[in-house]
Amino acid sequence: ISLKPYNTFGIDAKARFFVDITGLVQLQKVLELKAYPKKFIISGGSNMLLTKDIDALVMHIKLEGISIVEENEDTVEIKAMAGENWHELVLWCLDRGYGGIENLSLIPGNVGTAPIQNIGAYGVELKDVFVSCTAMEMATGELLAFDKDECHFGYRESIFKNEAKGKYIITSVNLRLTKRDHELHTGYGAIEGELKNMGIVYPTIRDISDAVIAIRRSKLPDPKELGNSGSFFKNPVVSKKAFDKFIKKNPEAPHYETDDDQFKIPAGWLIEQCGFKGKRYGDAGVHDKQALVLVNYGNATGQEILALSEQIQEEVHKRFRIKIQPEVNIIK
Ligand code: EPU
Repeated sequence: ISLKPYNTFGIDAKARFFVDITGLVQLQKVLELKAYPKKFIISGGSNMLLTKDIDALVMHIKLEGISIVEENEDTVEIKAMAGENWHELVLWCLDRGYGGIENLSLIPGNVGTAPIQNIGAYGVELKDVFVSCTAMEMATGELLAFDKDECHFGYRESIFKNEAKGKYIITSVNLRLTKRDHELHTGYGAIEGELKNMGIVYPTIRDISDAVIAIRRSKLPDPKELGNSGSFFKNPVVSKKAFDKFIKKNPEAPHYETDDDQFKIPAGWLIEQCGFKGKRYGDAGVHDKQALVLVNYGNATGQEILALSEQIQEEVHKRFRIKIQPEVNIIK
């Protein structure tokens, strides 16, 4: 079957075998199936680039449900199953007045993939509200809990992209959210500006979500209309020494200092300077409003998107001596 509807890039790669996973017992049983030695997990399909057909049993994670684990007057711990749509969860929380993930509105993908790359936007990362997740070990079918420390979260990083890569299927995620005295994150320039536009001085968590939605809609393509995987690259983080050299030559470059005396430079800016913004090669292209996002105009293959991404990496390196790395999981 074609995986085109199951990945937000809209790549028409084929799966040899395919199964919807709707329960934990079923998940265990499917993992035990000896007839299908090779297995491949797909969830929201929002952070992957398929560059070939998948000669395996594709397990589409559709585990659903959101529940309250415990609460007091101030906070609530919720548990969301891996197959829940991330943005739907954000809305579920806003409806109940739970604060903490409003800045993460409209991020494509499902709950279960959020910890893998520690999703983040507008000054908030998943790790800020994360309590724990449950994951099934693929080799044994055993359910294990990972607390926050065990996940080794970093900027778009976690244990699930590194030591534990390919070994577990995340089945649910627990988050701790606020019920009152919400800690608002409005410092990010674009949010401040958008709230001003909206004429809001004392924003609620709903206002922040609305602002984020407006900003994202103005810059980031909707995967339903134009295939994409959000930021294709991570923003490079460089040492102070390398940064000093860079900024001398490029004094106008936007940048942020990190907590550990390093500097983050927006890859979107670097790519735009190299002239790629809005460029199209066949059906593969660079988004015209945000150069960090690669897009599929319809029938691009994963190979074509990959080739474009490599060309961008080379040009950026040639011009700035900075290596940018993909954020998206490239399936080769
Ligand atoms: N910029 C350009 N040209 C571009 C794009 C950006 O010059 O084509 C400049 C902007 O002017 C701005 C700076 O780069 O000065 C930063 O741009 P922006 O605020 O759009 O954020 P970003 O660094 O490009 C990151 C995340 C996004 C997240 C936003 C907002 C990464 C890899 N990306 O993008 O995450 O939504 O910040 O917090 O960290 C994603 O991961 O898929 C994603 C969309």
